[in-house]
Amino acid sequence: MPDKGGFPHYMLKEIFEQPKALEDTIAPRVSRETAEVRLAEEVRIGSEELRSIRRVNIVASGTSRHAGIAGQFMFQDLVHLPVDVDYASEFEYRNPMISRGEITIVITQSGETADTTAAQREAKKKGSRTIAISNVVGSTIAREADGVLYTHAGPEISIASTKAFTAQMAVLFLFAAYLAQVRGALSESERKKWIAELQALPKKTETVLEQAAECQRLADRFHKFESFLFCGRAIHYPVAMDGALKLKEVSYIHAEGYPTGETKHGPIAMIDESLPVVIIATCDRNDAGSVLRYEKNVANIRGFKQQSGKVIAIATEGDTELPGLADHTIFVPHAPELLSPILEIVPLQLFAYYMAVRKGLDVDRPRNLVKSVTLE
Ligand code: AGP
Repeated sequence: MPDKGGFPHYMLKEIFEQPKALEDTIAPRVSRETAEVRLAEEVRIGSEELRSIRRVNIVASGTSRHAGIAGQFMFQDLVHLPVDVDYASEFEYRNPMISRGEITIVITQSGETADTTAAQREAKKKGSRTIAISNVVGSTIAREADGVLYTHAGPEISIASTKAFTAQMAVLFLFAAYLAQVRGALSESERKKWIAELQALPKKTETVLEQAAECQRLADRFHKFESFLFCGRAIHYPVAMDGALKLKEVSYIHAEGYPTGETKHGPIAMIDESLPVVIIATCDRNDAGSVLRYEKNVANIRGFKQQSGKVIAIATEGDTELPGLADHTIFVPHAPELLSPILEIVPLQLFAYYMAVRKGLDVDRPRNLVKSVTLE
């Protein structure tokens, strides 16, 4: 087992390893000269077949499924293919209408999750090609897939998945960009722009980590609360769900991840001074495509405040409006929306970590949980 490298817990070490995990995952797959994405040897499905793919299915469990939901946005935006995302544990029960001419992406840090293995076998039985995204070389799911895209995050010891999650999203983005490249769905200049943004992430993640002390202060302030609501729109919704999952896993505090717009259809009834809301509100007001969403986030925060809710906002550096509305604001560097989840989750991981530490809990080995769930 690797040592903790001077950190008090593996979880904190692994959170801080994210810039390196991203760099190691992205750099070997992208040509420095042409920004071409090189995945042919790992995908092991020929270009002609990739051009005829009609649909992408994603199956995974827990945090890996959250990465898959972010991936859904990436594939739909870059490749213009319809994408379904399923809980691996529910997959077989909905008689998935999967057939030849489709790809099923199976995401799993460990490569040994029983529900995910069963879903992969079901997809194969129905004639789908399968691509595994795994952090463990030679794992069962990697061995059974047509192609394997490894996350090069290094061993993840803490039960709460952190660096594997951000590396999974980076791999999903690379695969979406590769498919777009093979299918001619992205022009060369667009691809170059996207790849430059992807390559900028490790450095930007370092900047987010500089906010660790601020996240610790938030935990000092909020550790006695018994319930939290996390919300985010569009691709920020899986970040909200993962922020909530991290908090539940390591600090045993109840938390729910919700699509922001959906909060008015029920959960808003719960909001008062005892239920803090964490809102992922990084939409760029200056970007024509997201002005409306920015305004909606502002309106949501105002609504939560009217109900006496305590609001923690995750905002983009340079945003001057949200800090005036929310009780606390954590800033992340600007990134295109398809990539910003990789930055946004980092303060939420730190928050969950410091909450658990503040409560004196066994951060790396929370009760009732195992690293790899090998029973269905
Ligand atoms: C993440 O923090 C969890 N420990 C858990 O949800 C995990 O992501 C899930 O069990 C799936 O594991 P896998 O990625 O190894 O398949």
